[in-house]
Amino acid sequence: MTPTWVQVAYLVAAVCFILALRGLSSPRTARQGNLIGAAGALLATVVVFFQTDLEHIPLILAAIALGSLGGVLGAQRVQMTQMPQLVALFNGVGGGAAALVALLELHEIAGSDVEAFDLAATAFTVVVGSVSFSGSLVTFAKLQELMTTRPVTFPGLPVLFGAALLASVALSVLVVLEPSSWLGIGLAVLGLLVGVLLVLPVGGADVPIVISLLNAFTGLTVAAGGYVLGNTLLLVAGTLVGASGTLLTLLMAKAMGRSVANTLFGALKGGSTLGAGTASDRPVRSAGPEDVAILLGYAERVLIVPGYGLAVAQAQHSLRELVDVLGERGIAVDYAIHPVAGRMPGHMNVLLAEAQVPYEQLKEMDDVNGEFKQTDVVLIVGANDVVNPAAKTTPGAPIYGMPILNADEARQIVFMKRSMRPGFAGIDNELLFDPKTTLLFGDAKETMSKLLNAVKAL
Ligand code: TAP
Repeated sequence: MTPTWVQVAYLVAAVCFILALRGLSSPRTARQGNLIGAAGALLATVVVFFQTDLEHIPLILAAIALGSLGGVLGAQRVQMTQMPQLVALFNGVGGGAAALVALLELHEIAGSDVEAFDLAATAFTVVVGSVSFSGSLVTFAKLQELMTTRPVTFPGLPVLFGAALLASVALSVLVVLEPSSWLGIGLAVLGLLVGVLLVLPVGGADVPIVISLLNAFTGLTVAAGGYVLGNTLLLVAGTLVGASGTLLTLLMAKAMGRSVANTLFGALKGGSTLGAGTASDRPVRSAGPEDVAILLGYAERVLIVPGYGLAVAQAQHSLRELVDVLGERGIAVDYAIHPVAGRMPGHMNVLLAEAQVPYEQLKEMDDVNGEFKQTDVVLIVGANDVVNPAAKTTPGAPIYGMPILNADEARQIVFMKRSMRPGFAGIDNELLFDPKTTLLFGDAKETMSKLLNAVKAL
């Protein structure tokens, strides 16, 4: 029986998690939300040590020290553009840990008189936790480019996937009927296989959606683990992660104009693999910073489209300065924000908020899309897929159906990028060859400061 004071502490921690989610829903309160969530997690961890029946304390402390060291070093070193990989890794170890705890629990309860529902929850935790672990490791490898970011399929993959899934269900039933550690280990191995087969066919641009889905899986695993261990806090925290992960998955899939099923299994139909991904050698019009400065300096209305390249180059501060200088010249400038620009939800909002860009200058896609027609110059900084007309015109393209920013409707289009290489989806962008388009080649940070100086010199 859990003592009342422990239950109260768990309740406080659960409230912290809920307040954290609330805080995280706005950029203004996100840091505070994060701290409240961390405080809740700390409280929940400390409380465990005050329970009388705790064994192996030195081992637990050593594991906590090792995990904390890995977490702190990893979080300090990671670039913001690598955040999805870090989330994938953290998510994977969360699912893996829940699966291991359930395996140990199965070892303890095997042979004793246990309710069928408890055994079913244990089997669920083992299999879904293992799926989450191996699936997250494959997404990590894809995002870190340790393996190809293209969909990987082979003949027989759907059959193997289906068979592994059916075998997991069958083995779970056996665990309920005749629980044993060996069955549990078999279940974990099948879960690992399902996780790998689930993520392999997913193409690069869709990987962030899968991370969010696996995150929801981990939440469900932790919730089921909480049920198995009789721990209410794990149940609450897992349910929160499961629900928020599911919502985020659906929102991201909607923003990319595709269903979750299409994201996961689209490549198996053969049509939705990534495009050629080669740099095109068709002629384009390029110009120097001085020419682009003249275009901008004599415009009345300018829209900025920021993308992943802006984040990689860390050019957001010089970009804000450029916008300020243009504003002083009486030019109306706003930022057009695509919901999946960059590599994670809200990536551009966070990046620009860091550069002290006023919120009112950030225009959401649906609000700004009607304004491109009246825009003299659209300055596309390190963005590509989010303005690629193939999303409207090319059925079969991996981004087909994704709503895009109507940059093609502006009077003049300027792309700032380093080369003719495609964006994350790996397909050519016709807009680069549009007669209205000018390319300003170079690393966005370098070219942005040159452009800034050129505008100041006008
Ligand atoms: P991308 O389509 O990936 O294009 C980024 C562009 O930035 C590339 O064309 C690249 O061209 C350029 N670039 C890279 N480094 C640069 C640097 N240092 N200086 C200047 N330019 C640089 O980015 P996007 O338009 O932001 O689209 C986001 C992609 O991620 C979409 O495919 C989207 O579906 C996917 N995605 C995002 C999310 C979220 S939640 N954000 C979720 C799922 C999927 P060069 O190599 O020639 O420089």
